[in-house]
Amino acid sequence: MTNRGDIFETGEIFRDRKLVRVGHVPDLERVVGRDDEIDAIGSALAPAVQGGPPETTIVYGKTGTGKSLVTRCVCREATRRAEENNVTFAHAYIDCSDYGTETQASRQMARDLHSTVKDSVGEQSIPRKGIGAADYRDIAWEMIDDANVDAFLVILDEIDKLDGDELLRSISRAQESGKADAFIGAICISNKIEYRERLSERVDSSLQDNELVFDPYDARQLEAILTRRRDAFAEDVLEDEVIPKTAALSARQHGDARKAIDMLYEAGRLAEMEQSKHVTEAHVDAALEKAEINRFQKLVSGQPPHVKHILRALALLTEQADRQQFRTAEVYDMYTNIADEVDTSPLSYDRVQRLLKEQAFLGVTESEHTGGGHKEGSYRVHRLLRSPEIVMKGLDRQ
Ligand SMILES: Nc1ncnc2c1ncn2[C@@H]1O[C@H](COP(=O)(O)OP(=O)(O)O)[C@@H](O)[C@H]1O
Ligand SMILES: [Mg+2]
Repeated sequence: MTNRGDIFETGEIFRDRKLVRVGHVPDLERVVGRDDEIDAIGSALAPAVQGGPPETTIVYGKTGTGKSLVTRCVCREATRRAEENNVTFAHAYIDCSDYGTETQASRQMARDLHSTVKDSVGEQSIPRKGIGAADYRDIAWEMIDDANVDAFLVILDEIDKLDGDELLRSISRAQESGKADAFIGAICISNKIEYRERLSERVDSSLQDNELVFDPYDARQLEAILTRRRDAFAEDVLEDEVIPKTAALSARQHGDARKAIDMLYEAGRLAEMEQSKHVTEAHVDAALEKAEINRFQKLVSGQPPHVKHILRALALLTEQADRQQFRTAEVYDMYTNIADEVDTSPLSYDRVQRLLKEQAFLGVTESEHTGGGHKEGSYRVHRLLRSPEIVMKGLDRQ
């Protein structure tokens, strides 16, 4: 007998872990701080709930601002309400980051539609392959007729990942071309605000009536979102400052609810691993650092070794001096020291300068031209966009 203990022991920090795991879709009542957005999507779907045409809407916003969640929750609610009105409202949800080609997305539309109208059309097998995107759409339009659907809504999530315009075009034309005998509309969701212009080139102007932007969450909203999930933790485990602090840090950095929930979960896990009885502010700090290191690591993974030496040089300089910005020449000197240490011959000054520019372009560093003194002329300075500790730890983990 070893006294290893229970290897599946989890400790007493969590009561209901799933509340702080990604992928958990709460009910509309648990959605906080998005009342205006819920109303806007609600009014786009209002006609459909009465058996009329849903209004096509385009939703933009950064990741973690609740776009997918709000759209799905309101859609679920609309289905419930339509039933009460004896209206057949059907919908299909397509995550284009999973189904990125026209064929995959059209197939997914048919499959998801089928799951909502199965009761009236019965089992129907949708071929896995061998038919084209247009065939899948025809299957969908036929199902709409067979099920006597009054209104059909297609949610195209992360539409910027979809490789063509055919699906969107055919959705906007299916009804007028007489292919489907129902009112059809779409909600197009994109994490990229820049996508607005691309999309207006891609779709008819008739589709652009409604536009909705989801702003990043502020600290108050994030605090409300996290507070609704405090049941994830056992009683008296969370110290009072943990949620406000997680919310404040997240609001300052990104306003992303998913990342905020992740950070709270991570803080809990760190407490669990230390076999601590409480989750404290220190755990939140540690969770934040861990997340930053991870992000930095991802950002620079796959970069050639010399880029990493250059970034390490900049981190060392930042740690040693009490300033943030360093001239190319300073970075180059430190870089050659590092190259020496690891026994590799350094790249040329010009090459290093170019690599530094590239890092600024990638958002790892920032660089600018500064006018030197009268005789010095202008020169370029560089600074890290993260703390040197994060950069060093991220580089050490490579
Ligand atoms: N207003 C909110 N209320 C409660 N939880 C939220 C809210 N907004 C986001 N979340 C949580 O954050 C996760 C990410 O939100 P999501 O809708 O997927 O963001 P987006 O689609 O904008 O990237 C959701 O699954 C949910 O757990
Ligand atoms: Mg989303």
